[in-house]
Amino acid sequence: MERAKLLLLLMLALSFYYSRVESEGNLHVVELQGRCSIEEREALISIKQSLDDPQLLLSNWDIGEDCCGWKGVGFRNTRRSLVCHIFFPSLLRLQHLQYLSLNGIFFNHTSIPTTINSLTSLRYLDLSNSGFNGIIPPHIGNLTKLRFLDLSSNYLAASNLLWMSHLFSLQYLDMSDVNLTLATNWLHEIMKLPALSTLRFSYCNLQTLPTLLSYYNFSSTISTIDLSNNQFPNSTIPSWLYNMTNLVELHLPGCQLHGMVPSNLLGALCRLRILDLSSNLIHGSISSMFLGQFSKCTTRYELKYLALSNNDLSGNIQPNNFTGPVSWATLSLLCDLDILNLRENNFIELIDDESAPKCKEYKMTYMDISENKMSGSMPEWVGQMRQLRYLHLGNNRLIGSIPQRFGQLMNLNYLNLHTNLLQGSLLDANFVNLSQLKILDLSNNQLDFNMMSFNWVPPFQVFILDIHSCLIGPRFPSWLQTQKFLNYLDVSNGGISDIIPSWFWNITSQVVFLGMFYNSIRGELPMSLNIRFKSTIDLRSNLLEGHLPRLENSAQFALFSDNMFSNGTEWYLNANQSYLEILDLSENQLYDEIPSSIC
Ligand SMILES: *[C@@H]1O[C@H](CO)[C@@H](O)[C@H](O)[C@H]1NC(C)=O
Ligand SMILES: *[C@@H]1O[C@H](CO)[C@@H](O)[C@H](O)[C@H]1NC(C)=O
Ligand SMILES: *[C@@H]1O[C@H](CO)[C@@H](O)[C@H](O)[C@H]1NC(C)=O
Ligand SMILES: *[C@@H]1O[C@H](CO)[C@@H](O)[C@H](O)[C@H]1NC(C)=O
Ligand SMILES: *[C@@H]1O[C@H](CO)[C@@H](O)[C@H](O)[C@H]1NC(C)=O
Ligand SMILES: *[C@@H]1O[C@H](CO)[C@@H](O)[C@H](O)[C@H]1NC(C)=O
Ligand SMILES: *[C@@H]1O[C@H](CO)[C@@H](O)[C@H](O)[C@H]1NC(C)=O
Ligand SMILES: *[C@@H]1O[C@H](CO)[C@@H](O)[C@H](O)[C@H]1NC(C)=O
Ligand SMILES: *[C@@H]1O[C@H](CO)[C@@H](O)[C@H](O)[C@H]1NC(C)=O
Ligand SMILES: *[C@@H]1O[C@H](CO)[C@@H](O)[C@H](O)[C@H]1NC(C)=O
Ligand SMILES: *[C@@H]1O[C@H](CO)[C@@H](O)[C@H](O)[C@H]1NC(C)=O
Repeated sequence: MERAKLLLLLMLALSFYYSRVESEGNLHVVELQGRCSIEEREALISIKQSLDDPQLLLSNWDIGEDCCGWKGVGFRNTRRSLVCHIFFPSLLRLQHLQYLSLNGIFFNHTSIPTTINSLTSLRYLDLSNSGFNGIIPPHIGNLTKLRFLDLSSNYLAASNLLWMSHLFSLQYLDMSDVNLTLATNWLHEIMKLPALSTLRFSYCNLQTLPTLLSYYNFSSTISTIDLSNNQFPNSTIPSWLYNMTNLVELHLPGCQLHGMVPSNLLGALCRLRILDLSSNLIHGSISSMFLGQFSKCTTRYELKYLALSNNDLSGNIQPNNFTGPVSWATLSLLCDLDILNLRENNFIELIDDESAPKCKEYKMTYMDISENKMSGSMPEWVGQMRQLRYLHLGNNRLIGSIPQRFGQLMNLNYLNLHTNLLQGSLLDANFVNLSQLKILDLSNNQLDFNMMSFNWVPPFQVFILDIHSCLIGPRFPSWLQTQKFLNYLDVSNGGISDIIPSWFWNITSQVVFLGMFYNSIRGELPMSLNIRFKSTIDLRSNLLEGHLPRLENSAQFALFSDNMFSNGTEWYLNANQSYLEILDLSENQLYDEIPSSIC
């Protein structure tokens, strides 16, 4: 694929016929020996001359040579022989070119050449990610045989889409990143395309989303709509979506849509596999999206991806506000669901209804219901989702203990239950099959690690371990010794009143954050600590004494305040600490002289 990106893939397909747009995946670059006509050579050269080609990818395109040897130029005939062959020598120019992809070649902000309209046989035109600038030439509208048109990821703009009105065969249209601010009538111009199947208009600066349409030719053919990250202030989810009954993917995140949850949308769009409404201003009960679904959907429910979260990064969109209980009965209708993201909403309860119908098998690999207001106990049923790799229920109000069934989620990479009201003793059984775990955050709960036997060997090797503000101590957790790949470790505020064992500094060499503050850790530290460059080491508010440790690599933040260290400051004053931004030695028993220059 790398090669295909670099190569100018230009294919003369004289009698090759695409039965479906997707069949483009079966094409190969055919590098051939042979001859092509003078007219075809001249047409190629005129395309070359109107393009800026800083990488000189077209350098061997030269009038004196046979274009069959040119980079990326190939011919194909019905018998699929690999011979460069001219079938219709009398035809002028490249009227028979069917496939042109300039994807990935950088044309340094030149315009798309208007001569493109001479390629009247084109069925497939991919000019994406090619550094084109300026207004899209309406001449593309002359290419009436186009089935596939991708103009995305350039620096293009268009003031209207009227020129598309004759692209009757168009099935795939991607104009993502094209500035369509002025194309206020865009939808009326698009919806007349009778064969359209995929519509991708992401990041187009679209401003209007009509909620009512009187007709639309594409309603039976459209399967993918992606309008993500446009601004439709004050628009609701348009009712015409209910008529797009063949819709498979609907991407509307970050659109400033407001209003109520689209009632029974999932019951109307029975083929939907992807629904992304995250980062909007929608409110209401999630359950109403499912109402009466079986009345319309005769086939099996196919949803695989459901995202209703607010994960807005730009800061100017307010959160979604989906409320009401998340019922197991609701989720158990979605046996094919793979990804569920309900982060940052307003859910009140997870209902653990044992009598609800269950799926034979759950396919969910990703579940994020964090940053909600869920109360109640941890749902046992999540433990049945054996495919889960990512589980985030952090920052809710969940109570009770962690069900032991969670310990059987053998595919889990990521487990985050931070900042809930969980309590109880953790046992070996809570982790027994979590051998794939890489990130574990149980912080800020009343969970007690003391029952972990002294010789406990966890089945996992984690990179990130955050158990701060749990009941870790009073003994230093010896099982940490088994963790060889830690990048982040936080055992702060854990009631540890032990000394730090000497093996500990053997597992810290890759740690970028080492948090051990607010414990009662005693004793002296080694003369030198093995920590990573630009790391944070936070040992504040313990009972450490003696000589301040030297750091083998320069930390960014070294916080030793509120201990009983008595000497060792001279190293921090003299050593090459080029990355150190904050050094806090306050509230110790230091009697070294500290130069006023650093106080
Ligand atoms: C792109 O065009 C600019 C302005 O014409 C020129 O300065 C620059 O060198 C060009 N870049 C390349 C890679 O040719
Ligand atoms: C080609 O496109 C131009 C610009 O849209 C238009 O004026 C012209 O009539 C078209 N020619 C044909 C043959 O469709
Ligand atoms: C998009 O086009 C409009 C109108 O021409 C212009 O005002 C705006 O700055 C453009 N936006 C971007 C991101 O280029
Ligand atoms: C719908 O498509 C047909 C061609 O398939 C065309 O004749 C008709 O005018 C289109 N309707 C609209 C409203 O564009
Ligand atoms: C959309 O579907 C509804 C009900 O299925 C129907 O009454 C309405 O006429 C359809 N609208 C269009 C524009 O086809
Ligand atoms: C959206 O609604 C708000 C409040 O109702 C109003 O102030 C604002 O002008 C509206 N914006 C648009 C683009 O209609
Ligand atoms: C979210 O919705 C609930 C119930 O509709 C309402 O009580 C609450 O105030 C809303 N929260 C926000 C931030 O709009
Ligand atoms: C879970 O771990 C136990 C004990 O190590 C083991 O006997 C069992 O086979 C594991 N189960 C799965 C599903 O891996
Ligand atoms: C720490 O690592 C060093 C070097 O690998 C090894 O010699 C030493 O025994 C280890 N110390 C402990 C306490 O494991
Ligand atoms: C300062 O630290 C050293 C270890 O480098 C120790 O031997 C010495 O006793 C300490 N000095 C004082 C005055 O406590
Ligand atoms: C300090 O260390 C940095 C990074 O290793 C190095 O670039 C710099 O030259 C050193 N400065 C001195 C004065 O040794």
